[in-house]
Amino acid sequence: MSPGLLLNDPVVSDGAKPKLIEDGFGTRAIHVGSEPNVETGAVIPPISLSTTYKQEAVGVHKGYEYSRSANPNRNALEATLASLESGGAHALAFASGSATTATVLQSLGPNAHIVSVNDVYGGTFRYMTRVANENQGLETTFVDLEHADEEAIRDAIRENTKLIWVESPTNPTLRLIDIPRLAQIARSHPSHPLLLVDNTFLSPFYASPLLLGADIVMHSITKYINGHSDVVMGALILPALETPALTRVYEKLRFLQNAIGAVPSAYDSWLAQRGAKTLHLRMKAHGENALLVARALKASPHVEEVIYPGLEGDKRNELAWRMLSPHAKNGMISFRIKGGFEAAETFLTSTRLFTLAESLGGVESLAEHPARMTHGSVPERERELLGIGEGLVRLSVGVEDGEDLVRDVLQALEKAGEVRAK
Ligand SMILES: Cc1ncc(COP(=O)(O)O)c(C=O)c1O
Repeated sequence: MSPGLLLNDPVVSDGAKPKLIEDGFGTRAIHVGSEPNVETGAVIPPISLSTTYKQEAVGVHKGYEYSRSANPNRNALEATLASLESGGAHALAFASGSATTATVLQSLGPNAHIVSVNDVYGGTFRYMTRVANENQGLETTFVDLEHADEEAIRDAIRENTKLIWVESPTNPTLRLIDIPRLAQIARSHPSHPLLLVDNTFLSPFYASPLLLGADIVMHSITKYINGHSDVVMGALILPALETPALTRVYEKLRFLQNAIGAVPSAYDSWLAQRGAKTLHLRMKAHGENALLVARALKASPHVEEVIYPGLEGDKRNELAWRMLSPHAKNGMISFRIKGGFEAAETFLTSTRLFTLAESLGGVESLAEHPARMTHGSVPERERELLGIGEGLVRLSVGVEDGEDLVRDVLQALEKAGEVRAK
Protein backbone atom coordinates (compact mmCIF):
# COMPACT_ATOMS: atom_id res chain seq x y z
CA MET A 1 0.00 0.00 0.00
CA SER A 2 1.28 3.50 -0.77
CA PRO A 3 2.57 5.25 2.37
CA GLY A 4 -0.04 7.99 2.03
CA LEU A 5 -2.97 5.54 2.03
CA LEU A 6 -4.97 4.13 4.91
CA LEU A 7 -7.03 0.97 4.66
CA ASN A 8 -10.37 2.75 4.51
CA ASP A 9 -9.28 5.79 2.52
CA PRO A 10 -12.01 7.52 0.54
CA VAL A 11 -11.32 7.41 -3.16
CA VAL A 12 -13.05 9.55 -5.80
CA SER A 13 -13.04 9.03 -9.50
CA ASP A 14 -12.34 11.95 -11.82
CA GLY A 15 -13.22 10.18 -15.00
CA ALA A 16 -10.85 7.37 -15.88
CA LYS A 17 -8.49 7.52 -12.91
CA PRO A 18 -9.54 6.90 -9.28
CA LYS A 19 -7.95 9.54 -7.03
CA LEU A 20 -7.24 9.51 -3.32
CA ILE A 21 -8.80 12.31 -1.29
CA GLU A 22 -5.60 13.43 0.39
CA ASP A 23 -5.92 13.80 4.14
CA GLY A 24 -4.48 16.87 5.81
CA PHE A 25 -1.05 16.99 7.45
CA GLY A 26 -2.29 16.41 11.00
CA THR A 27 -4.49 13.49 9.97
CA ARG A 28 -1.60 11.82 8.18
CA ALA A 29 0.74 12.48 11.12
CA ILE A 30 -1.62 10.66 13.45
CA HIS A 31 -2.84 7.81 11.26
CA VAL A 32 -0.37 6.83 8.53
CA GLY A 33 1.92 4.05 9.75
CA SER A 34 -0.10 3.84 12.95
CA GLU A 35 -3.12 1.74 12.04
CA PRO A 36 -4.65 -0.34 14.87
CA ASN A 37 -2.88 -3.68 15.31
CA VAL A 38 -4.64 -6.33 13.22
CA GLU A 39 -4.13 -9.17 15.73
CA THR A 40 -4.91 -7.44 19.03
CA GLY A 41 -6.74 -4.26 18.07
CA ALA A 42 -4.19 -2.19 19.99
CA VAL A 43 -4.61 1.41 18.85
CA ILE A 44 -0.98 2.21 19.58
CA PRO A 45 1.53 -0.07 17.82
CA PRO A 46 3.43 -2.36 20.19
CA ILE A 47 7.21 -2.05 20.40
CA SER A 48 8.67 -5.04 18.61
CA LEU A 49 11.99 -5.75 20.31
CA SER A 50 12.75 -9.09 18.70
CA THR A 51 15.95 -9.01 16.69
CA THR A 52 14.99 -12.08 14.64
CA TYR A 53 11.83 -13.63 13.16
CA LYS A 54 10.58 -17.20 12.77
CA GLN A 55 10.53 -18.58 9.24
CA GLU A 56 7.90 -21.19 8.24
CA ALA A 57 10.36 -22.80 5.83
CA VAL A 58 13.73 -21.61 4.61
CA GLY A 59 13.14 -18.15 3.14
CA VAL A 60 9.39 -18.20 3.91
CA HIS A 61 8.50 -15.46 6.38
CA LYS A 62 6.13 -12.58 7.07
CA GLY A 63 8.40 -9.89 5.60
CA TYR A 64 10.82 -9.75 8.52
CA GLU A 65 14.03 -11.79 8.93
CA TYR A 66 16.46 -9.80 11.03
CA SER A 67 15.76 -6.46 12.59
CA ARG A 68 18.74 -4.55 11.12
CA SER A 69 17.21 -5.19 7.69
CA ALA A 70 13.64 -4.29 8.68
CA ASN A 71 11.48 -4.26 11.78
CA PRO A 72 7.82 -3.33 12.29
CA ASN A 73 8.48 -0.10 14.21
CA ARG A 74 11.05 1.25 11.80
CA ASN A 75 8.85 0.33 8.84
CA ALA A 76 5.90 2.08 10.48
CA LEU A 77 7.94 5.22 11.13
CA GLU A 78 9.24 5.19 7.56
CA ALA A 79 5.64 5.05 6.30
CA THR A 80 4.75 8.06 8.48
CA LEU A 81 7.74 10.04 7.24
CA ALA A 82 7.10 9.24 3.57
CA SER A 83 3.55 10.49 4.02
CA LEU A 84 4.43 13.66 5.96
CA GLU A 85 7.07 14.91 3.55
CA SER A 86 4.84 16.20 0.76
CA GLY A 87 5.82 14.68 -2.56
CA GLY A 88 7.48 11.77 -0.73
CA ALA A 89 6.86 8.07 -1.39
CA HIS A 90 9.81 6.24 0.24
CA ALA A 91 11.57 6.88 3.53
CA LEU A 92 14.66 5.34 5.12
CA ALA A 93 15.49 5.84 8.78
CA PHE A 94 19.03 5.92 10.20
CA ALA A 95 20.64 5.98 13.62
CA SER A 96 21.30 9.73 13.48
CA GLY A 97 21.23 12.66 11.07
CA SER A 98 25.00 12.26 10.78
CA ALA A 99 24.68 8.53 9.94
CA THR A 100 22.21 9.59 7.24
CA THR A 101 24.74 12.04 5.82
CA ALA A 102 27.47 9.39 5.95
CA THR A 103 25.32 6.83 4.13
CA VAL A 104 24.32 9.29 1.37
CA LEU A 105 27.91 10.37 0.80
CA GLN A 106 29.19 6.77 0.81
CA SER A 107 26.57 5.91 -1.81
CA LEU A 108 28.37 8.28 -4.22
CA GLY A 109 31.38 5.94 -4.43
CA PRO A 110 35.07 6.84 -4.78
CA ASN A 111 36.37 10.15 -6.16
CA ALA A 112 33.02 11.85 -6.56
CA HIS A 113 32.50 15.59 -6.30
CA ILE A 114 29.67 17.47 -4.63
CA VAL A 115 28.62 21.10 -4.38
CA SER A 116 27.46 22.14 -0.94
CA VAL A 117 25.97 25.30 0.46
CA ASN A 118 28.82 26.99 2.34
CA ASP A 119 26.90 27.59 5.59
CA VAL A 120 26.23 23.95 6.33
CA TYR A 121 25.76 22.23 9.74
CA GLY A 122 29.23 21.89 11.36
CA GLY A 123 29.03 18.08 11.60
CA THR A 124 28.09 17.81 7.91
CA PHE A 125 31.05 20.07 7.03
CA ARG A 126 33.30 17.88 9.19
CA TYR A 127 32.11 14.66 7.54
CA MET A 128 32.52 16.08 4.03
CA THR A 129 35.99 17.54 4.60
CA ARG A 130 37.57 15.15 7.10
CA VAL A 131 35.94 11.76 6.61
CA ALA A 132 34.54 11.43 3.07
CA ASN A 133 37.47 13.39 1.69
CA GLU A 134 40.13 11.29 3.41
CA ASN A 135 38.41 7.90 3.05
CA GLN A 136 36.76 7.99 -0.35
CA GLY A 137 38.41 10.93 -2.10
CA LEU A 138 35.16 12.91 -2.13
CA GLU A 139 35.74 16.55 -2.99
CA THR A 140 33.35 19.29 -1.95
CA THR A 141 33.08 22.78 -3.41
CA PHE A 142 31.37 25.07 -0.91
CA VAL A 143 29.33 27.79 -2.60
CA ASP A 144 27.28 30.67 -1.26
CA LEU A 145 24.14 29.29 -2.87
CA GLU A 146 22.08 32.20 -1.57
CA HIS A 147 23.94 34.84 -3.55
CA ALA A 148 25.86 33.01 -6.31
CA ASP A 149 24.50 33.67 -9.79
CA GLU A 150 23.55 30.85 -12.13
CA GLU A 151 26.87 30.98 -13.98
CA ALA A 152 28.88 30.63 -10.78
CA ILE A 153 26.81 27.63 -9.69
CA ARG A 154 27.13 26.01 -13.13
CA ASP A 155 30.89 26.61 -13.01
CA ALA A 156 31.12 24.82 -9.67
CA ILE A 157 29.49 21.67 -11.10
CA ARG A 158 32.04 19.27 -12.59
CA GLU A 159 31.78 16.20 -14.78
CA ASN A 160 31.89 13.97 -11.68
CA THR A 161 29.50 16.11 -9.58
CA LYS A 162 26.95 13.69 -8.20
CA LEU A 163 25.09 15.80 -5.70
CA ILE A 164 24.20 19.34 -4.65
CA TRP A 165 23.77 19.56 -0.88
CA VAL A 166 21.48 22.27 0.46
CA GLU A 167 20.24 23.34 3.85
CA SER A 168 17.56 26.01 3.86
CA PRO A 169 17.46 28.01 6.05
CA THR A 170 21.11 27.30 6.70
CA ASN A 171 22.53 26.58 10.12
CA PRO A 172 23.17 28.98 11.89
CA THR A 173 22.91 32.14 9.74
CA LEU A 174 19.51 31.17 8.30
CA ARG A 175 20.36 31.89 4.65
CA LEU A 176 17.46 31.04 2.38
CA ILE A 177 18.13 29.12 -0.79
CA ASP A 178 15.94 29.31 -3.89
CA ILE A 179 15.35 25.57 -4.33
CA PRO A 180 13.41 25.67 -7.66
CA ARG A 181 16.24 27.72 -9.17
CA LEU A 182 18.83 25.14 -8.04
CA ALA A 183 16.67 22.25 -9.23
CA GLN A 184 16.46 23.84 -12.65
CA ILE A 185 20.25 24.33 -12.77
CA ALA A 186 20.88 20.72 -11.67
CA ARG A 187 18.42 19.25 -14.19
CA SER A 188 19.70 21.24 -17.13
CA HIS A 189 23.41 20.61 -16.42
CA PRO A 190 25.00 17.78 -18.45
CA SER A 191 26.31 16.16 -15.21
CA HIS A 192 22.73 15.89 -13.81
CA PRO A 193 23.67 16.06 -10.13
CA LEU A 194 20.93 15.12 -7.69
CA LEU A 195 19.60 17.83 -5.42
CA LEU A 196 19.41 16.94 -1.72
CA VAL A 197 17.79 19.31 0.78
CA ASP A 198 18.43 18.94 4.51
CA ASN A 199 14.97 20.03 5.70
CA THR A 200 15.74 19.67 9.42
CA PHE A 201 15.22 23.34 10.33
CA LEU A 202 11.74 23.66 8.84
CA SER A 203 10.44 20.09 9.16
CA PRO A 204 7.92 18.76 6.63
CA PHE A 205 5.33 21.11 8.16
CA TYR A 206 6.93 24.36 7.00
CA ALA A 207 8.64 23.26 3.77
CA SER A 208 8.22 20.68 1.03
CA PRO A 209 11.48 20.62 -0.98
CA LEU A 210 10.37 17.59 -3.04
CA LEU A 211 7.52 19.69 -4.40
CA LEU A 212 10.01 22.46 -5.21
CA GLY A 213 12.17 20.14 -7.33
CA ALA A 214 14.55 18.41 -4.90
CA ASP A 215 15.32 14.71 -5.49
CA ILE A 216 16.02 13.72 -1.88
CA VAL A 217 15.10 15.24 1.47
CA MET A 218 17.02 14.53 4.62
CA HIS A 219 16.14 15.17 8.26
CA SER A 220 17.83 15.00 11.57
CA ILE A 221 14.78 13.43 13.25
CA THR A 222 16.54 14.33 16.52
CA LYS A 223 15.13 17.82 16.04
CA TYR A 224 11.56 18.85 15.19
CA ILE A 225 10.14 15.56 13.95
CA ASN A 226 10.77 13.75 17.24
CA GLY A 227 10.50 17.07 19.04
CA HIS A 228 11.10 15.96 22.62
CA SER A 229 14.92 15.89 22.83
CA ASP A 230 15.01 12.19 23.68
CA VAL A 231 15.87 10.45 20.40
CA VAL A 232 18.87 10.75 18.07
CA MET A 233 17.85 9.71 14.55
CA GLY A 234 17.90 10.68 10.88
CA ALA A 235 15.97 9.93 7.70
CA LEU A 236 15.86 10.30 3.94
CA ILE A 237 12.69 10.73 1.92
CA LEU A 238 12.48 10.18 -1.83
CA PRO A 239 9.62 10.78 -4.25
CA ALA A 240 7.97 8.07 -6.39
CA LEU A 241 10.71 6.31 -8.35
CA GLU A 242 9.74 7.55 -11.77
CA THR A 243 13.15 7.35 -13.43
CA PRO A 244 15.67 4.47 -13.57
CA ALA A 245 18.30 6.83 -12.10
CA LEU A 246 16.17 7.56 -9.02
CA THR A 247 15.33 3.86 -8.63
CA ARG A 248 19.07 3.05 -8.61
CA VAL A 249 19.72 5.73 -5.99
CA TYR A 250 16.92 4.41 -3.77
CA GLU A 251 18.03 0.79 -4.10
CA LYS A 252 21.62 1.69 -3.27
CA LEU A 253 20.56 3.67 -0.20
CA ARG A 254 18.29 0.84 0.98
CA PHE A 255 21.18 -1.61 0.44
CA LEU A 256 23.61 0.58 2.39
CA GLN A 257 21.10 1.13 5.19
CA ASN A 258 21.31 -2.60 5.87
CA ALA A 259 24.93 -3.17 4.83
CA ILE A 260 26.37 -0.36 6.95
CA GLY A 261 23.76 -0.95 9.61
CA ALA A 262 23.55 2.56 11.07
CA VAL A 263 19.88 1.98 11.88
CA PRO A 264 17.63 3.20 14.70
CA SER A 265 16.32 0.83 17.36
CA ALA A 266 12.70 -0.30 17.47
CA TYR A 267 12.19 1.70 20.68
CA ASP A 268 13.58 4.91 19.19
CA SER A 269 11.47 4.38 16.06
CA TRP A 270 8.37 4.05 18.23
CA LEU A 271 9.25 7.19 20.19
CA ALA A 272 9.93 9.22 17.04
CA GLN A 273 6.63 8.10 15.56
CA ARG A 274 4.83 9.22 18.71
CA GLY A 275 6.64 12.56 18.47
CA ALA A 276 5.69 13.00 14.82
CA LYS A 277 1.98 12.72 15.69
CA THR A 278 2.03 16.24 17.16
CA LEU A 279 4.44 17.80 14.66
CA HIS A 280 1.76 20.06 13.14
CA LEU A 281 0.65 21.34 16.55
CA ARG A 282 4.17 21.93 17.78
CA MET A 283 5.38 23.62 14.59
CA LYS A 284 2.53 26.12 14.67
CA ALA A 285 3.38 26.98 18.28
CA HIS A 286 7.14 27.17 17.55
CA GLY A 287 6.43 29.55 14.66
CA GLU A 288 4.07 31.79 16.60
CA ASN A 289 6.42 32.03 19.60
CA ALA A 290 9.48 32.62 17.44
CA LEU A 291 7.77 35.51 15.65
CA LEU A 292 6.99 37.12 19.05
CA VAL A 293 10.59 36.65 20.22
CA ALA A 294 12.04 37.89 16.90
CA ARG A 295 9.93 41.06 17.11
CA ALA A 296 11.08 41.68 20.69
CA LEU A 297 14.72 41.18 19.70
CA LYS A 298 14.34 43.57 16.79
CA ALA A 299 12.99 46.29 19.07
CA SER A 300 15.82 45.85 21.61
CA PRO A 301 18.65 48.42 21.79
CA HIS A 302 21.04 45.59 22.77
CA VAL A 303 20.65 43.73 19.47
CA GLU A 304 22.59 44.55 16.33
CA GLU A 305 20.75 42.30 13.87
CA VAL A 306 17.94 39.73 13.97
CA ILE A 307 17.96 36.94 11.40
CA TYR A 308 14.50 35.46 11.03
CA PRO A 309 13.06 34.90 7.56
CA GLY A 310 9.47 36.09 7.65
CA LEU A 311 10.08 38.96 10.09
CA GLU A 312 8.54 42.23 8.91
CA GLY A 313 11.08 44.20 6.88
CA ASP A 314 13.41 41.25 6.16
CA LYS A 315 14.62 41.74 2.62
CA ARG A 316 14.35 38.01 1.92
CA ASN A 317 10.64 37.86 2.63
CA GLU A 318 9.49 37.40 -0.94
CA LEU A 319 11.70 34.29 -1.10
CA ALA A 320 10.62 33.22 2.38
CA TRP A 321 6.99 33.22 1.30
CA ARG A 322 7.86 31.10 -1.72
CA MET A 323 10.03 28.60 0.18
CA LEU A 324 8.10 28.23 3.44
CA SER A 325 4.51 27.11 3.66
CA PRO A 326 1.84 27.46 4.89
CA HIS A 327 3.36 30.52 6.64
CA ALA A 328 6.75 32.16 6.50
CA LYS A 329 7.49 31.16 10.10
CA ASN A 330 9.61 28.59 11.88
CA GLY A 331 11.15 28.09 15.29
CA MET A 332 14.76 29.15 14.72
CA ILE A 333 16.18 32.65 15.25
CA SER A 334 19.75 33.85 15.08
CA PHE A 335 20.76 37.31 16.29
CA ARG A 336 23.88 39.38 16.77
CA ILE A 337 24.11 40.88 20.22
CA LYS A 338 25.99 44.13 20.81
CA GLY A 339 29.15 43.61 22.87
CA GLY A 340 30.64 40.44 21.31
CA PHE A 341 31.37 37.26 23.23
CA GLU A 342 31.09 38.77 26.71
CA ALA A 343 27.58 40.04 26.03
CA ALA A 344 26.60 36.79 24.28
CA GLU A 345 27.81 34.71 27.21
CA THR A 346 26.03 36.94 29.72
CA PHE A 347 22.82 36.59 27.73
CA LEU A 348 23.23 32.81 27.45
CA THR A 349 23.83 32.36 31.17
CA SER A 350 21.10 34.79 32.26
CA THR A 351 18.05 33.24 30.62
CA ARG A 352 15.66 31.40 32.91
CA LEU A 353 13.64 29.45 30.34
CA PHE A 354 16.04 29.20 27.39
CA THR A 355 18.51 26.48 28.38
CA LEU A 356 22.10 26.91 27.22
CA ALA A 357 22.53 23.73 25.17
CA GLU A 358 23.26 22.42 21.69
CA SER A 359 20.53 20.96 19.46
CA LEU A 360 17.16 22.41 18.52
CA GLY A 361 13.58 21.53 17.69
CA GLY A 362 12.44 20.26 21.09
CA VAL A 363 9.40 21.52 22.98
CA GLU A 364 11.72 23.34 25.38
CA SER A 365 13.52 26.54 24.36
CA LEU A 366 17.28 26.32 23.88
CA ALA A 367 19.98 28.90 23.23
CA GLU A 368 23.56 28.43 22.08
CA HIS A 369 26.73 30.12 20.82
CA PRO A 370 27.39 28.67 17.32
CA ALA A 371 31.03 29.82 17.03
CA ARG A 372 32.05 27.97 20.19
CA MET A 373 29.46 25.20 20.24
CA THR A 374 27.67 23.68 17.20
CA HIS A 375 30.06 25.20 14.65
CA GLY A 376 33.31 24.88 16.60
CA SER A 377 34.49 22.32 14.03
CA VAL A 378 34.29 24.90 11.21
CA PRO A 379 37.72 26.61 10.85
CA GLU A 380 37.85 30.16 12.23
CA ARG A 381 38.51 31.72 8.82
CA GLU A 382 35.46 30.00 7.33
CA ARG A 383 33.37 31.07 10.31
CA GLU A 384 34.40 34.69 9.78
CA LEU A 385 33.47 34.53 6.10
CA LEU A 386 30.08 33.04 7.00
CA GLY A 387 29.35 35.64 9.66
CA ILE A 388 29.48 33.17 12.56
CA GLY A 389 31.05 35.69 14.89
CA GLU A 390 31.47 35.94 18.67
CA GLY A 391 28.27 37.96 19.03
CA LEU A 392 26.07 35.48 17.16
CA VAL A 393 23.47 33.68 19.30
CA ARG A 394 21.11 30.97 18.03
CA LEU A 395 17.73 30.37 19.62
CA SER A 396 15.52 27.32 19.24
CA VAL A 397 12.21 28.75 20.37
CA GLY A 398 10.10 26.15 22.17
CA VAL A 399 6.37 25.83 22.73
CA GLU A 400 6.16 27.35 26.22
CA ASP A 401 3.89 30.40 26.62
CA GLY A 402 5.14 33.01 24.19
CA GLU A 403 4.89 35.98 26.61
CA ASP A 404 7.08 34.13 29.13
CA LEU A 405 9.73 33.55 26.47
CA VAL A 406 9.69 37.21 25.43
CA ARG A 407 10.03 38.31 29.07
CA ASP A 408 12.93 35.89 29.54
CA VAL A 409 14.81 37.13 26.47
CA LEU A 410 14.28 40.79 27.41
CA GLN A 411 15.57 40.38 30.97
CA ALA A 412 18.67 38.48 29.73
CA LEU A 413 19.32 41.19 27.14
CA GLU A 414 19.17 43.82 29.91
CA LYS A 415 21.85 41.90 31.86
CA ALA A 416 24.00 41.63 28.72
CA GLY A 417 23.50 45.39 28.22
CA GLU A 418 24.66 46.12 31.78
CA VAL A 419 27.88 44.13 31.21
CA ARG A 420 28.50 46.03 27.97
CA ALA A 421 27.98 49.38 29.69
CA LYS A 422 30.60 48.66 32.40
C1 LIG B 1 20.72 20.84 9.90
C2 LIG B 1 21.29 19.62 10.56
N1 LIG B 1 21.53 18.52 9.82
C3 LIG B 1 22.05 17.40 10.38
C4 LIG B 1 22.37 17.34 11.72
C5 LIG B 1 22.95 16.07 12.30
O1 LIG B 1 21.96 15.36 12.97
P1 LIG B 1 22.23 14.39 14.24
O2 LIG B 1 22.65 15.27 15.37
O3 LIG B 1 20.91 13.74 14.43
O4 LIG B 1 23.31 13.45 13.85
C6 LIG B 1 22.12 18.46 12.52
C7 LIG B 1 22.45 18.42 13.96
O5 LIG B 1 22.42 19.42 14.63
C8 LIG B 1 21.58 19.62 11.92
O6 LIG B 1 21.33 20.73 12.64
